[in-house]
Amino acid sequence: MGVLEAIKARWNIRKYKITLEAIKTRRSIRKYKSTPVGDKTIELVLEAARWAPSWKNSQCWRFIVVRDSKIKNKLADTLIAVSADRPNRAAEAIRNAPVAIVACAELGKSGYSAREPRQPVTDKGEFWYMFDVALAMQNLVLAAHSLGLGTVYIGAFDAEEVASILGVPEGFCVVSMTPLGYPDEEPPIRPREELSEIVFYDKFSVK
Ligand SMILES: Cc1cc2nc3c(=O)[nH]c(=O)nc-3n(C[C@H](O)[C@H](O)[C@H](O)COP(=O)(O)O)c2cc1C
Repeated sequence: MGVLEAIKARWNIRKYKITLEAIKTRRSIRKYKSTPVGDKTIELVLEAARWAPSWKNSQCWRFIVVRDSKIKNKLADTLIAVSADRPNRAAEAIRNAPVAIVACAELGKSGYSAREPRQPVTDKGEFWYMFDVALAMQNLVLAAHSLGLGTVYIGAFDAEEVASILGVPEGFCVVSMTPLGYPDEEPPIRPREELSEIVFYDKFSVK
């Protein structure tokens, strides 16, 4: 390896370490300080979201930034308990964080053929918008984390109710939401399965 290649390789490892550090130290935050989040900071996280990849670069995602406490409370009321004995722990986060970001998708784009008659082209049907919005949201939460902000993905809520609260029109659907604010807790990092449990070489293997 030449000197230039060696410098590049070292630089790449540094970039990898910074990226992995952000990925590994992010965690779901459900308690927030009341400290406001400035418009510029919100724009920084949304900027990361819009650079996500998407089906044929169709960019079906739309984001609604909610600061109004009354609207946030209504959103919090739409959250669904995942287990019968415990309310959705993210509801208080939506109420207390200074900002909530609601991610929507324009339907009929992701997963569809580019030409008429436009129709889904894979066996995943019309649902690729979930994938695209998730990629944008992952960019958003990592960017937020790198700026010292907390988030938590929320999937368990009444999406039609949220659409009605926020005036989301026909042809769009609400996919996910997250509170955004400065963390008031430092929960432990939740464990992940080892690579040896989830990666197979050449053939899927059931243990
Ligand atoms: C698709 C999706 C939906 C989720 N929905 C909720 C939710 O409704 N309420 C909640 O408190 N956490 C929700 N979470 C957060 C997960 O519980 C959390 O990401 C997981 O336990 C791992 O913890 P970590 O984010 O701290 O690494 C959701 C996460 C994902 C990816």
